[in-house]
Amino acid sequence: QKQIQIAPSILSADFSKLGEDIQLVEKGGADVIHYDVMDGHFVPNITIGPLVLDSIRKVTQLPIDVHLMIENADDYIPAYAKAGADWISVHVEACPHLHRSIQLIKSLDKRAGVVLNPHTPLSAIEDILPDVDFVLIMSVNPGFGGQSLIASCLDKIARLKNLLIQRNLEHIEIEIDGGVKLDNIQQVIDAGTDIIVSGSGIYNTPDPIATIQQMKQVGTT
Ligand code: DX5
Ligand code: ZN
Repeated sequence: QKQIQIAPSILSADFSKLGEDIQLVEKGGADVIHYDVMDGHFVPNITIGPLVLDSIRKVTQLPIDVHLMIENADDYIPAYAKAGADWISVHVEACPHLHRSIQLIKSLDKRAGVVLNPHTPLSAIEDILPDVDFVLIMSVNPGFGGQSLIASCLDKIARLKNLLIQRNLEHIEIEIDGGVKLDNIQQVIDAGTDIIVSGSGIYNTPDPIATIQQMKQVGTT
């Protein structure tokens, strides 16, 4: 079995000591740093922009996974690429010219991902699949950390996994985002997930380092 990757979401970190909180999860063996960008339009919350990304780029060697929950993504993708993003993902619901947005990310030499909200069917990404490096399945409605995982999203991941096998696109990685914790991570892995985002499930535990180590343990057994 392929080793799963853990991507702590810094949305649940303490922003008054963000550098330390990133180094903390790095110590625990995090594989990727998940960076949530919200604009108050596509989702009902506002978070962080390229300026903060530029600062944290200097405190970690880990790849940074920028999840854009914004409208007009094409206007901002270059700024995130320049500030140090390694992966950039955009929502199918927010990008009327999705193919153009994905090509823009790739033209900047970044790994490109497409994201689906919980209610968006897999059929919405059928035609873009060959162009992406990963698919991010939202397992909560985007906007906030600390929500519960919507169970039907696990079935969606299993169906996506089959679709990728059928279409010889198994190099495309499947990422999940929302409500993943130590107590449900086994089901998430069993569904066929490669990359697991977890915010409150890591940062809101007493010992985030131990939590990541335990999550990775589940991923290897
Ligand atoms: C939700 C964000 C998530 C969020 C996950 O809109 O995209 O990345 O930080 O937080 P948890 O793991 O607490 O559900
Ligand atoms: Zn996210």
